Amino acid sequence: MKIAASLLATLALVASTVVAGPTNGKNKHHHQKYLRISKKVLRADKVPFIPHSGSGLFTNWVGMNLDFKYVKPFVNMVNSTASLNNNTALISRGEAHITMITPPEYDNILSKAGVTIKELNAIATNKKRPLQRAKFSIPCLGRVQAVTKPDNVFQQSWQLIVNDDKKDLLRYRQDVFKLFVKKGGNPALFDPEDFMPHITLGFKTRDLFVEDGVYKRRNACIAKVVAV
Ligand SMILES: *[C@@H]1O[C@H](CO)[C@@H](O)[C@H](O)[C@H]1NC(C)=O
Ligand SMILES: *[C@@H]1O[C@H](CO)[C@@H](O)[C@H](O)[C@H]1NC(C)=O
Repeated sequence: MKIAASLLATLALVASTVVAGPTNGKNKHHHQKYLRISKKVLRADKVPFIPHSGSGLFTNWVGMNLDFKYVKPFVNMVNSTASLNNNTALISRGEAHITMITPPEYDNILSKAGVTIKELNAIATNKKRPLQRAKFSIPCLGRVQAVTKPDNVFQQSWQLIVNDDKKDLLRYRQDVFKLFVKKGGNPALFDPEDFMPHITLGFKTRDLFVEDGVYKRRNACIAKVVAV
């Protein structure tokens, strides 16, 4: 009961935070709309790195783990705000992360040059520059849509777009690139700069990827976000 009540209170609070942002002194009539999220979501250093490894395809990938507790209220807000969700009930995975190395990058490129998931996890957890301590910001709520093959189904997915302000995330991928090349990998096949950091919030039936033709960068923004 107590948990349900506090969840309801959180929901009400979040629902009411689709608010007018700071007014511009020069033009008081110009109101910028912001969606709020707890700035605690930015503190990935407070949660552990979670390795993702397995023996099959799509089981090995690297992500920066985030505390879903601070993302959940935002998911609920999108899920209950018709102007944001296009009358779609969101399916959530119940966790939050920023993908750093995708399963296809691992399966098709890195592992073929002998780079192991163990090595990728070791780079992520190195003492000098642990991935969980990377700084980032969240400029906006993104939404991507596509009619997917082969079923011609209209899909939508929602994500928080991530800005790699300090290039900490890029640095991780550059370290991976160095290892890949050292192991004899073809540099043409892995571009450390070609990644789209984001936090998946939910989707209609399945998530959408670059393979579906969508780009989860600022192009996909539908509303500004402020971390408070
Ligand atoms: C809302 O979803 C429908 C399909 O259910 C789609 O045709 C339409 O373009 C979407 N509208 C917006 C504003 O995204
Ligand atoms: C979104 O809302 C629907 C009800 O409209 C609910 O069935 C679904 O579980 C909700 N999704 C999440 C992620 O909470």
